[in-house]
Amino acid sequence: MDLSIIVPTFNEAPNIAELVRRVAIVVADTEAEIIFVDDSSDDTPEVIRVVAASAPLPVRLVHREDPVGGLGGAVVAGYHVAASDVCLVMDGDLQHPPEKIPELLARYHAGGVDVVVASRYTGEGTAHGLADRTRVLVSRASTALTKAMFPLRLRDVSDPMTGFFLVSRSAVDLSGLRPRGFKILLEILVRRSFRIAEVPFDFADRHAGQSKASLRQGLHFLAQLAALRFGKMSLFAVIGGLGAVVNIALVWVLTHFGIDYIAAAIVAAEATIIGNFLLLERFVFQDMRGAASGVWWRFAKSFTFNNVEAAIRIPIVALMVATGHISVVVATAVTLVLAFFVRFVFHSLVVYAPKQNGAAPLRGALERVDEQSMQPGEL
Ligand code: GDD
Ligand code: MN
Repeated sequence: MDLSIIVPTFNEAPNIAELVRRVAIVVADTEAEIIFVDDSSDDTPEVIRVVAASAPLPVRLVHREDPVGGLGGAVVAGYHVAASDVCLVMDGDLQHPPEKIPELLARYHAGGVDVVVASRYTGEGTAHGLADRTRVLVSRASTALTKAMFPLRLRDVSDPMTGFFLVSRSAVDLSGLRPRGFKILLEILVRRSFRIAEVPFDFADRHAGQSKASLRQGLHFLAQLAALRFGKMSLFAVIGGLGAVVNIALVWVLTHFGIDYIAAAIVAAEATIIGNFLLLERFVFQDMRGAASGVWWRFAKSFTFNNVEAAIRIPIVALMVATGHISVVVATAVTLVLAFFVRFVFHSLVVYAPKQNGAAPLRGALERVDEQSMQPGEL
């Protein structure tokens, strides 16, 4: 088998025959199969069986009684049963024109890539099949946000949200995937680095039936984005936030006992810095301690960084307030958010850097932050 075409379906009965007909024409010269992974509550499975009986290529049906992971879960289930290593995923409503399949396949066989993405946002591609202006806007905005959150992994991809793509299954770590809902390609692409090519396509109108996209899917997507991006970073943020609260409480307690404000602020800041370091050691960077320098050296780097950061940040806030017509609260918030990112980068690149990696080039360093910030955290 040279190609497995995986089609997730949820109540797509009126589209099945036309999809199989058009696919069969374009893959006539290829050893190909179609696998419908179906979670329908209507008669789609029966329709698939009927169409399969007279189809010119193998048409298989996986009907899931327990549809875990929604659309994304269906795609992964398809990968598990596919007969070919070359797996193409497309929607069952003909918004993804089957006539594009040979082009995706040809690009894959031209070599040098693990993934071929059919994109609405490159070259002659269009997204005219999106239901209305709102969907167009949502699609554009979420694509921009996603690319901004994964600037390295998605640098070669204009349409990480498309549902039309081909992968070499062996390049994907199937057991590492945690699909939830629509954006399975995004999850695949951000878990590893791949060699990626794109082919433009016209996102057509639905042949029949209705879209299953919903506000709920949108919320799923945002949760998925945060989980994918902020595995480790979110713990880092929680610990930083906790530190801020402890810091304020300490200042309050110390001044309450008559200690001078400046002295109280210094003691509270240093205590917070030490506490944060211990928590980071235990919960965030525990997996990197082994390869990094010794604990006292790590502490020295972290302690110095935090003191320098605080010493720089406060005059910057003062400067912003004095020159920029912004309130002290906004200036503090902006600098704290910036400091958060710089602190994360510094800790994962410098404090917990592997010992032998003294002079890695910038690109390698960026890849490492990217890698680190997505590692699953532990609490
Ligand atoms: N098995 C299964 N389970 N299939 C599902 C499920 C599910 O829970 N939900 C939807 N599907 C199937 C549909 O039957 C269809 O074949 C395909 O997944 C896409 O669903 P649509 O309802 O047509 O979604 P869309 O057109 O709004 O979204 C498409 O375009 C988006 C880009 O804007 C999809 O391709 C998305 O993945 C893509 O991001
Ligand atoms: Mn659709």
